[in-house]
Amino acid sequence: MKAATIFHSYSGITKGVAQKVHEAVGGEIVEVKPVDSYSKLTAYTFGCRRAMKGECDKIKPESIDVSGSDVIVIGTPVWAFKATPVVNGAVSALFGCDGKNAVIFATCGGKEGETLPILKKALEKKGVNVAGEFVFNKKDVSDSSKIDELIAAVRSAGSSE
Ligand SMILES: Cc1cc2nc3c(=O)[nH]c(=O)nc-3n(C[C@H](O)[C@H](O)[C@H](O)COP(=O)(O)O)c2cc1C
Repeated sequence: MKAATIFHSYSGITKGVAQKVHEAVGGEIVEVKPVDSYSKLTAYTFGCRRAMKGECDKIKPESIDVSGSDVIVIGTPVWAFKATPVVNGAVSALFGCDGKNAVIFATCGGKEGETLPILKKALEKKGVNVAGEFVFNKKDVSDSSKIDELIAAVRSAGSSE
């Protein structure tokens, strides 16, 4: 099984979860960054506004080829109850994803809102089947059993092809 773990992380929490998944399942890990980076002020102003509208940021890398992977993992921080514009950009930049399984996760302060349902719909539009969804609040990110559940879901989604 080959996994592609794709994430955005502003302050490192989502990155920590993504790295644990990657260490456990291998494959490739892609950290997606905005071309125009956010300051704390612009994240809470422009970033939240763009997240609320479901807009896509210009990202690095420009495109993400997952054709060689069996399962896609996407992790996002929650901004204004939604996925970040950086992760929206990553979904838009995905190619070779049609027909693949994905497991998605969000990290948040405790109010994830519509983050995962909207992210799931965007992936389904690209032909991706979302096989698992996980939300990690502040306490969950240090709960190894919850991270193990995420890892198990990735393994299962990657081997059911
Ligand atoms: C701009 C901004 C907006 C946020 N909006 C929310 C929110 O709507 N709900 C929530 O529970 N947490 C919110 N948070 C908290 C983050 O989702 C949370 O700390 C997350 O784990 C950060 O992940 P990261 O370290 O990978 O960036 C927000 C944080 C930032 C910086």
